[in-house]
Amino acid sequence: MTVFRGKILHFVDDPAIAGERAYVYLDDGALLVRQGKIEQAVAWASIKDDLPGDAVTVDRRGRLITPGFIDTHIHYPQSDIIASYGEQLLEWLERYTFPTEQRFGDPAHASEVAGFFLDELLRNGTTSAMVFASVHPSSVDAIFEAARTRGMCLIAGKVLMDRNCPEFLRDTADSGCAQSAELIARWHGRDRLLYAVTPRFAPTSTERQLELAGKLLEENPGVLMQSHLAENLDEVRWVSELFTWSRSYLDVYDHFGLLREGAVYAHCIHLDALDRRRMSETGAAMAFCATSNLFLGSGLFDLDAALEHGVKVSIGTDVGGGTSFSMLRTLAESYKVAQLARQRLSPLRAFYLATLGGARALGLEDRLGNFAPGKPADFIVLDASATPLMARRMQSASGVVEELFVLMMLGDDRAVAETYVGGKQLHER
Ligand code: GUN
Ligand code: ZN
Repeated sequence: MTVFRGKILHFVDDPAIAGERAYVYLDDGALLVRQGKIEQAVAWASIKDDLPGDAVTVDRRGRLITPGFIDTHIHYPQSDIIASYGEQLLEWLERYTFPTEQRFGDPAHASEVAGFFLDELLRNGTTSAMVFASVHPSSVDAIFEAARTRGMCLIAGKVLMDRNCPEFLRDTADSGCAQSAELIARWHGRDRLLYAVTPRFAPTSTERQLELAGKLLEENPGVLMQSHLAENLDEVRWVSELFTWSRSYLDVYDHFGLLREGAVYAHCIHLDALDRRRMSETGAAMAFCATSNLFLGSGLFDLDAALEHGVKVSIGTDVGGGTSFSMLRTLAESYKVAQLARQRLSPLRAFYLATLGGARALGLEDRLGNFAPGKPADFIVLDASATPLMARRMQSASGVVEELFVLMMLGDDRAVAETYVGGKQLHER
C-alpha cells in the first residue's frame, strides 16, 4: 500500500446544489492507494498508527492532492494548429483545421502526435479526456494505443463527415458507420478505453449519416457520443438552412436520437430555454470551452442558465480552437466569462466541474472523478506556490478556497507537480 500525505480535496456533488456537503477537504490527509486503486481518503491522524508494516508513505505536506482533471472536449489532431491567427469558426476550419487533419491518414504521423498530446495532457494534470480523432480510422488506433500504454481512461472516436468538407476528409454515411462499428469492436471496453460516436457537427453530416450514428448508439450500449452544438452564429444560421424542418440546432441531434446520457456537446452557446430543457430531460451534457469560445470569438457560455435548467456541465479545453492544454487556465477564462455575464464561478465549483462534473457528463461517475473507494487512483499533486508570483500571493491567502482560486487564476502546467494514473506516477515536474 502507498499512502500519499498532504492536503486532500475531492467532490461528492455539485457545490452549486449541495453547498458545503459537496466536497471533502482534509487539511492533513492521507490518500491510501493499493494496487492502483483508491482504498480511502482520510485524516492522517486517524490512520497513522494503524498502517500496515509494508505501507510506504509519500510525504506531500504543503501540497494539494485532488483527482486528475477530466477534459471533456479536445481534438488531438489539432495539436499543431493551436494559436492560428485571425479567423472565426467556419473560416478557421477551412484554413487551418481541415489541412492539418488530412495528415492523420499517415499512421506514423498520427502516432507521433498522439504520444505528444497525451504527455501534454499529463503535464497539465489531465488524466482522462474525451477526444476527437480525425476522419481516418487509423487516427483512432493511434490515440487509443497511446492511451493504453499509459493506462489512461480515454474516450475517443473517428470523425463522421460526409458533406461540406474537402474531398480528402470525406467519408460516406455507410463507410463512416462501418468503420465506427469496427473501431467499437476493436477498442470499446478494452482496458480503460471507451468509444464515442463522433459526428463532427450537423453541417458536415447528411441526414442519413446522423441517422446511422443514432443507430450505432442504439446497437452499442455504453458507447458515448460527442459533437459540437451552437458555437457560432454563422454556424447556427447554416444549420437552419440545411435542416429546414428543425425547430433549432439542437433539434437536429434530437431528431436522430443523439441526445442521451454520455453524450457531450461542445460549446452550447446559442441555445434557448426549450433546448436547455431538452438537454436536461435527455441527460446530454454541455462542455464549456472558454478559451476556445473567446479565441474564435464565438460567444459567452451561460453557466447560470445551464444550472437553472439542470443541465450537466463539464469543462473542455477544445485544443486547437482552445488556446491551452491547461484546465487551470481554462478555469481562469471560465471565471472571466461568468464575470462578463454578472455570474459567479466559485473556486469550489470550478474544481468540481473539472473533476466530478466531467465524470458525470461522461456518465462515468462510477469510475472517475473523485476518491471514492475502489476507483482507479488517478490524481494530481498541485503546488499553489509554483511561481514567484503565486508564492507571493499565497503568503496572504488563507484556507483551501483561496488556494484553489490562486491555482485557477494564476496556475498552469507549472502548478502541476505530479500526475498519477492508476496509482503510477506518469509526470513529475
Ligand atoms: N465545429 C466543427 N468542428 C469543429 C472543430 O474542430 N473545432 C471547433 N471549435 N468547432 C468545431
Ligand atoms: Zn471542438
